[in-house]
Amino acid sequence: MPAYSAKVMDHFMNPRNVGEIENPDGVGEVGNPVCGDMMTFYIKVQDNRLEDVKFKTFGCGAAIAVSSMVSEMAKGKTLDEAARITPKLVAEELEGLPKQKFHCSNLGAQALNKAIEDYRSKQKKVAGGKENERQKTRRR
Ligand code: FES
Repeated sequence: MPAYSAKVMDHFMNPRNVGEIENPDGVGEVGNPVCGDMMTFYIKVQDNRLEDVKFKTFGCGAAIAVSSMVSEMAKGKTLDEAARITPKLVAEELEGLPKQKFHCSNLGAQALNKAIEDYRSKQKKVAGGKENERQKTRRR
């Protein structure tokens, strides 16, 4: 078994922010076809900041620790700051991950980024919808 840092063990044994957000503003789901692990991140956005971040992970211990760490790192950050959370930063915050477990940290950062993208694309649709409404009203 690979050696894990105390921080990885802590986040694995006591994961923070586990669960689902009701009516989330964005959802990001990723999976790794090789190991079969799955991760879903839910975000709530207020004034361009991640007011709440939760996750559900079906995966290895490292994947659970990574999800927990990503959720802590992302909470309270602006969308741009959170989008800059890389797998490398996550692994550093966890005081290292065994080499064969790096792909687990990729999943965490990807799932968060997908949730942010999901939020942004929904915002664009809302803005686009409003714009169409305005044009229709103008034409009337
Ligand atoms: Fe695949 Fe950890 S072994 S996410």
